[in-house]
Amino acid sequence: MVCMTLLIKGGTVVSSTGASLAEVLVDGETIVAVLSPGCDAAIAAEGGATRVIDATDRYVIPGGVDVHTHMSFPFGGTFASDTFETGTRAAAWGGTTTIVDFATQAYGKNVRECFDARLAEAQGECAIDYGLHMIIGDVQDDALKEMDRLVDEGVSSFKLFMAYPGVFLSDDGQILRAMQQAAGNGGLLMMHAENGLAIDVLAAQAVERGDSGPVHHGYVRRAEFESEATHRAIQLAKVGAAPLYIVHLSASEALEQVAIARNKGMNVFAETCPQYLYFNLEDQLDQPGFEGAKYVCSTPLRTKHEHHQADLWTGLRTNDLSVVSTDHCPFCMKEQKEMGLDDFRAIPNGFGGVEHRIDMIYQGVTQGEISLARWVELCATTPARMMGLYPRKGVLQPGSDADIVLYNPNHPWTISVDNHHMNIDYSAYEGVTVPGKVETVLSRGRVIVEGGQYLGRKGDGQFIRRGLSSYLI
Ligand code: URP
Ligand code: ZN
Ligand code: ZN
Repeated sequence: MVCMTLLIKGGTVVSSTGASLAEVLVDGETIVAVLSPGCDAAIAAEGGATRVIDATDRYVIPGGVDVHTHMSFPFGGTFASDTFETGTRAAAWGGTTTIVDFATQAYGKNVRECFDARLAEAQGECAIDYGLHMIIGDVQDDALKEMDRLVDEGVSSFKLFMAYPGVFLSDDGQILRAMQQAAGNGGLLMMHAENGLAIDVLAAQAVERGDSGPVHHGYVRRAEFESEATHRAIQLAKVGAAPLYIVHLSASEALEQVAIARNKGMNVFAETCPQYLYFNLEDQLDQPGFEGAKYVCSTPLRTKHEHHQADLWTGLRTNDLSVVSTDHCPFCMKEQKEMGLDDFRAIPNGFGGVEHRIDMIYQGVTQGEISLARWVELCATTPARMMGLYPRKGVLQPGSDADIVLYNPNHPWTISVDNHHMNIDYSAYEGVTVPGKVETVLSRGRVIVEGGQYLGRKGDGQFIRRGLSSYLI
């Protein structure tokens, strides 16, 4: 007899393929059955579930998987303001039950030492399960060898930068070498695709002529520089015979490059983030005074006078964009963003939003941009598949971790710094009213958010050793 511990009944289970009334049965940390309604009679006959959760009028969805976060990320002389503890707690509030964050090999440093230190920083801190990508900031022989070992240890993706000269930037030769290595070890190459050298020329010229406010961050990081770098990365990936995943894509022109490659059958994938779907250069970055600093991130928010947002939504429908992540990398205005009061180049680049992804993308459902099933696919199922977490994560099926969210689709509420849980002194989403709300969150069978209360504990989240991307095997 199955030891039945938890039954979620009365709800509409939404998967990447559709929605139906169903009951979810959890035993300990694992889903053991997804049943037709009414099966609770059979369950009662078997001894009953220890606990029943009523999900009437709620969507029951797999816990969100956010594969691009930066807790305590070192940037521009400071650190992202959410730690693994505060950031994963905020993620849980927003219905995300797995993150994949980054370990960073800084220039001149040893990959193994940097990875070990980052894992130690996360261990015992996280409220939800987590994995790590490795940023390779100095592609050298040792770093390349270490990539093979990391793949064997469950770190199956590597981020390189074509931006930030002198900090993270890899040149084309280094990128090609890393791609060849990934082609050999099965890893997925993630690319920050912006031409950083060209951006720095325009940035210096802007400051020189007195254009030093936050909006100029957006003007100098031109869409052409994103599309050129995306094109170059794709060509290098073709020669290197490696799969490629473009992170935080924001420009139509870059999306075009991804679409061309995909139409030719290449293993090229891309993600976008909620901020690029809802915010723009004029309304957010170009605010009076220093307000725009809240929205300084790279790639930048794009102008509303072109079709970037409409094209991104189209990309999400056509699968040229297959993942929505947050690129959560928050910095407070006070003492952090403020470092760039006189020069936008000194504003730490980053955006806080790990708590709001599920709600913001659900808004896309109510606005008719994507289907209910696509919401789940973009926020949970595909990210899990992309990053080697599937079917443990990203799906409600027997054998999967019981990471489950009960979502109320009819509970409008307004986001504010006063009600968010991220460690930031402002909300980039201040005043945005979203149509639905995360109500109950289970992480491996434990209820960690319920009735407006956080019931989780730091340290309950486990490091997940990931397999290879499902899209490559
Ligand atoms: O502005 C951003 N995106 N900050 C985080 C670092 C990165 O490039 O992803
Ligand atoms: Zn990046
Ligand atoms: Zn990032």
